[in-house]
Order: sequence, then structure tokens, then C-alpha cells
Amino acid sequence: KTYTVAVVGATGAVGEQMLKNLEERSFPVGELRPLASARSAGKSVRFRGEEVVVREATPDAFEGVDIALFSAGGGVSLKLAPEAVKRGAVVIDNTNAFRMDPDVPLVVPEVNGHKVREHKGIIANPNCSTIQMVVALKPIRDRYGLERVIVSTYQAVSGSGWQAIEELKRQTRAVISGEEVSCEVLPVSKLSKHYQIAFNAIPQCDVSQENGYTLEEMKMVRETQKIFEDDSIRVSATCVRIPVLRGHSESVYAELKEEADPEEVRRILADAPGIIVQDDIDEQVYPMPLTADGRHEVFVGRIRRDLHNPKGLHLWVVADNLLKGAATNAVQIAELLISTDR
Ligand code: A2P
Repeated sequence: KTYTVAVVGATGAVGEQMLKNLEERSFPVGELRPLASARSAGKSVRFRGEEVVVREATPDAFEGVDIALFSAGGGVSLKLAPEAVKRGAVVIDNTNAFRMDPDVPLVVPEVNGHKVREHKGIIANPNCSTIQMVVALKPIRDRYGLERVIVSTYQAVSGSGWQAIEELKRQTRAVISGEEVSCEVLPVSKLSKHYQIAFNAIPQCDVSQENGYTLEEMKMVRETQKIFEDDSIRVSATCVRIPVLRGHSESVYAELKEEADPEEVRRILADAPGIIVQDDIDEQVYPMPLTADGRHEVFVGRIRRDLHNPKGLHLWVVADNLLKGAATNAVQIAELLISTDR
């Protein structure tokens, strides 16, 4: 059996990786339907060695589609995901539009893959920073229990799309050649102020919320609770954009219900699905964004007991934000979805 698969935002940074994942993981695509804005209609994308023409994402473009992967921004998902569902497609949405909707499963296959079966047409892919954190925390939570998480992120610009990638490259060249630096995209393109990301760090990855946190930070709080189905987990986050092209890093402090032996944690994580442990500080072994670039797994290192709280554990968690943080997770969800068809 093969499937007609639409990729909405096929010309974007995540969309491109979705096409690549569908191809590399040999997803049974019968027809690929790359969709984007009217600006891209008529352009083409490469899939399995062929050029496939991009169409404008309109309601009718979903006619005959079995599975629609959305990554074109929340507004596009809000408008078009219901249209796709109406036409019989199952939507896997990479945006923030439906994640907290009680009727929408929020799925990380390694953590709560069984939730896929509960969908009513839409399945949400969590935020990139949430995905890699819950993959690392799940085996720890299963063994020791989890009460509290304090996380600081070091996020790559590709999380903000092509324009942000281009902006970092352009600014870096400008600084080095002593030219004037222009700032148009980061931290949030639709806000009025923009700051230089090259040779800088910006403690804002999304719009602000009434409580003084950013939306990105609150996504990590709410999504973690929803995925673990436990509103008692106390999560606080600080999300920072850094001048890295690809790969989010996170300093995660977890307070457990029981004391954890770091050596045992290393073994548990090494045996868990989708995780690679790289942890030997004496030998200078630890994950970095460049280690994770192009990889589908979540990398964990710097595993240490807190100096003052015996139930506190520190981890350094790195993953490719465009892959496990977005495209890989979405295609894994699609794989789970069709596994029940067989
Ligand atoms: P387009 O290339 O035609 O603008 P990125 O995250 O890398 O910036 O990519 C965003 C993706 O979302 C692109 O594929 C972009 O298409 C797509 N997109 C943006 N706005 C719309 C829209 N109104 N309708 C459909 N796709 C859109």
C-alpha cells in the first residue's frame, strides 16, 4: 500500500528535511504533493531523484491526500489543517497551532507513541526544544520519578527558518569584513526590534507572555506536562538563541523522586530508544551541535549529580532541531500511523 503525502511548507527549512526523511526512511509515498505559498507555486523540489512541482497550499490541494505534514507556520495550519481533515487526510502538524488542544495527541514516538491512535484527524509534533528534552527525560522519569525541571536552551537559528539561517551567514560575513550589519529577522521577525545574532546570544526565542516568560519557554512547560500526562511536573525554562546554524543544546537540571546514580543513568539512557550517550569529560567526550548535525538521535552527556541536592541531576542534551526536533519526529509519527493499516 502507498500513500498520497502532502508536505505544506515544502520549500522551508523543515519542509526540505521532511522530504529528505520521507525519502531516506523509504516511507511508502505513492504521490508526493509539495505545497507552499503562492510565491513558490511552479517552482520544484527534488524527491527520489525527480523534480516535483510545488503547488499553492489551498483547501482543494488536499483532495485525495492521505497524510499531510504541515510546517508553514501556525496561521497556515489553523486555516488549512481543518480543510485537509475535511477531505480525509490525517494531519501531522509541526506548528504550535493545535498542540494544547485536548482532542489533539502531542506525540514523541519514543515517549508516548501509543497516543497516535487517539487522533481525530490532527496529530501535533511538539516544539523542537521539548522533543529532545522529553526523549532524554523519559527513561529517567520511568526509573526515578520526576518532580521538577529547570532548563536553559542554546538554540540554533534554523529553528526560525531559512531567513534566519541566511541572516546569521550574512551578518557573520559582514562583521568579519568590517561592513555594516543589518538585522531583520531575529529574535522574532514580526516584532519591531531586531538584534544581531552573529557573535551574540539573544535571550528571546518567541513572543513574550503575560507572566514574563516567552512563548517558547511556556511551550516547554505545557508540552512537557501534556506529553508525560502529569501536570504536577514543575518545569521552568530560559530559551536563548545562539549563533549556531543547526542543533539545539540544553542544560537540563532535573529533580527526581529518588536519588540517581550517574553511572546507572548512563546505562539506562544508552539502552533507551533514540538516545546516544556521549559522556566522558576526562576524555573530552560530550555532545555538541556539530555532533548532532544531520543525525536523527538525541545526544546526552555531562551527566552529573547535583552538588547540593542528592535527588538533583544535571544533563546536557543536544539534537538536530530540524530532524528529531521537527522532520524526523513528524515522519516517525507518520510511520506509526500507517503501521496500524497493515
Ligand atoms: P514559501 O517558500 O512559498 O514562502 P521557513 O520556516 O524556512 O521560513 O519556511 C516556511 C515555509 O512555509 C515555506 O515553505 C513557505 O513557503 C511556507 N509558507 C509561508 N507562508 C505560507 C502560506 N501563507 N501558505 C502556504 N505556505 C506558506
